[in-house]
Parts: sequence; C-alpha cells; structure tokens
Amino acid sequence: MTEEIQENHRLRELIGEQIRSRGGLPFIDYMRLCLYHPEYGYYMSPRRRIGKEGDFFTSSSVHHLFGRLIARQIVQVWELLGRQSMTVAEQGAGEGHLALDILDALQRENPDCYAGLSYRLVEVSPVNRERQQQLLAGHTARVDWCELEALRGMQGCFLSNELVDAFPVHLLEKRDNRLREVYVVEKDDRFAEELRQPASAVIDYFDWLGCGPLEGCRAEANPAAVDWLRQVGDLLGRGLVLTIDYGYPAEELYAPFRSAGTLLCYHQHQSNDNPYVHIGCQDITSHVDFTALQKAGAEAGLETLWFGEQYRFLMGLGFVEVLMELQAKENDPRKAQQLRMTLKNLIMPEGGMGETFKVLVQGKGLGSPELLCQRGIDAIPIP
Ligand SMILES: C[S@@+](CC[C@H](N)C(=O)[O-])C[C@H]1O[C@@H](n2cnc3c(N)ncnc32)[C@H](O)[C@@H]1O
Repeated sequence: MTEEIQENHRLRELIGEQIRSRGGLPFIDYMRLCLYHPEYGYYMSPRRRIGKEGDFFTSSSVHHLFGRLIARQIVQVWELLGRQSMTVAEQGAGEGHLALDILDALQRENPDCYAGLSYRLVEVSPVNRERQQQLLAGHTARVDWCELEALRGMQGCFLSNELVDAFPVHLLEKRDNRLREVYVVEKDDRFAEELRQPASAVIDYFDWLGCGPLEGCRAEANPAAVDWLRQVGDLLGRGLVLTIDYGYPAEELYAPFRSAGTLLCYHQHQSNDNPYVHIGCQDITSHVDFTALQKAGAEAGLETLWFGEQYRFLMGLGFVEVLMELQAKENDPRKAQQLRMTLKNLIMPEGGMGETFKVLVQGKGLGSPELLCQRGIDAIPIP
C-alpha cells in the first residue's frame, strides 16, 4: 500500500492553510473538509469505500435480503396510500445497492407497485452518483436524481441507511462544569486539539435537546441531523420516513459510561479513534441521537410510529421466512451455511448489526397503522 493511498497530502495542506488563516478550525469544519472537500474529501474522491475492498460494510452491502425486506414495508405504504403512483426517495445511497435490491424485489414481487413507482436519489457525491447510475441502469425508467427540495409534497417513503452518521459534528468536552468545544490547531507541524468556548449554536442545541455531555465526558452534537429531519418532515406530503443507522436515545448517548463519546474512523475495515490520520482516506462517523430525530420530527409534523433495533425490524418484515426460502434453494450445504453466517450479521446483537443499528419509522398523514415491521415474533408465520 503506497503512502498516497493512506493520506491525501493535498487535503492536509489545504486544511493546514485554513487553520493558519482562521486561527484554528472548529472540529465540525475539520470533519466537513475531511469528508466533503469537493475534490479531496473522503466521500468525494474516487475510491472504494463500501464492501470488501473498501473501508466498511453496510447492511445493504451484506446481502440483497436487506433491501428485499424493506421493499415489503414499501408495499404496505403503497397499499395505505391507496395503491396509487408513489415516490420512494433515498438520500445518501452510497453505491446504490439498497435501491437496486428494493427495485429488483418490487419488479419481481409487486409489478403493480413497481409500475407506478418513482425512485428518487439525493446524493451529495458526484462519484457515488455515477456509481449509482451504473448500478441502476436496468431500472432507468423508474429512477432519477434530484435535490432534497425537489421532493416537496412527495407521497411515499423517504429512506436513508447510514446517512446521518456521516454528517459533520461538533466535538465537545465538559471540564470543571464548563462545556468546551474542540478546535483543530497545528503544533510542531501536526494537527492537535485545543478546547475553546463553544459556538452559540451548540449551546442552543443542548438547551433544545434538554440533555448533554456530563462532567469529564467527551461527546458530539449533530445539529445538521436535526435541521435535516425538520426539512424532510416539512417536504413530505404523506407517508413514512425510515431512518436506519447506528445510535442511541439521547440519555444513553450522553450516559456517564460513554465518556469518550462515539466518534470513530474506519480505514480498510479497521476502526480507530484518531481523526487526524489517513486524512481524506478514512471515514469519520458518530453515533446518531435518535431522541433528537424524534423531537425534530415531531416539530415538523412527523409522528414516531416505531423505533427499535434492526434485528426486530427485520424479523417483523419476515427475515426468517426469506432466509428459509433462500436456504431451500441452496443445494450445496457449504454454501447454505455461508448464507446463514452472512445473514446472521444483519441480526446478531454482539459483533453484528442487529442491535447497535436502530430503525426509526416516522409517519405523516397515515394515521396509526399496524406496520409490518412492528410485528412481534409470535405474529410472524414461520414456514
Ligand atoms: C455511509 S454512506 C451510506 C451507505 C449506503 N446508504 C448503503 O446502504 O450502503 C453515506 C452516503 O451519504 C452520502 N451523503 C452524505 N451527506 C449527504 C447529504 N447531505 N446529502 C446527500 N448525500 C449525502 C455520501 O456521499 C454517501 O453516499
């Protein structure tokens, strides 16, 4: 592995220039440059990010069953909306695997729903948009790309999987009963941290949330997530907002045992807690505050219909049934076992994606339907 691939030197220089000219950068601005600098940012440059040759796996990159199950929830929304033409919008679709698996499943299993469907992708990264276009070439008549604002009045389902954890965050520490914000500075030619007075937006954010970092703890604040959900709630005419990501309710996120916060970096399938290495070549993420999303949603007319762990969500949608169907088609016992192991990843609590990943389902104009995803184990027919 060459050094160029480990770190983007040009991006490091550009960040250094900004630090010198501004006298230090709030961590949120540093993270924004690392991930979204138009030319050199991690998400904006041409590199493999998701999957075996990338830096991390996402549920949709694990197996097409994930998208196939979500398609079942979409079909129920279509029925609730009177089986009319509807929109599925997905923001931050990465390479587009979830979109492909949903569209394939709908085309095969619910052609009427598929025929009236408009699948709209909102993507900030031109490189990802191009990959999505290639992957979705078989569904050209159903898909297009747009800005968030173009979704105003949409009826249907608004989806995101691991979008919110990729928003830049403020990094904070509470010491001697004072909240301080992390700034990135240069010391001896290296990036270092300095604690300073927090931006007023941060103080306002925690006042609004009614919860925040405890004494001696480091934590993040993600006001962009709140603004985003308010915008989505405002744009949605009728339907569901489905937000899938790793995270916790606020009181668990800011609990005393999480004293180091949740900021994590991913590089070639290794996680680390140092955002000052592999600049532009590693993902930087933080866990999502689902209390903030529910509160922001409520302010924008979105009612929380369901919130829970990914394993319960997938079970409700028929995980076991589809697993058994896929297994029955597999004649080679080794491949059948491999399939079980792969799929276990999606629901396993320890070391898998089943528990850390949560699903927030918010609705507008749908009443309080019994959603498929909220079925308890006893209500699910096992073949
Ligand atoms: C971790 S990846 C998501 C992976 C993908 N959803 C999956 O299931 O494999 C984050 C994605 O969000 C995109 N993104 C980040 N901020 C965005 C924004 N404000 N609007 C649209 N896309 C955004 C990134 O370019 C990337 O495609």
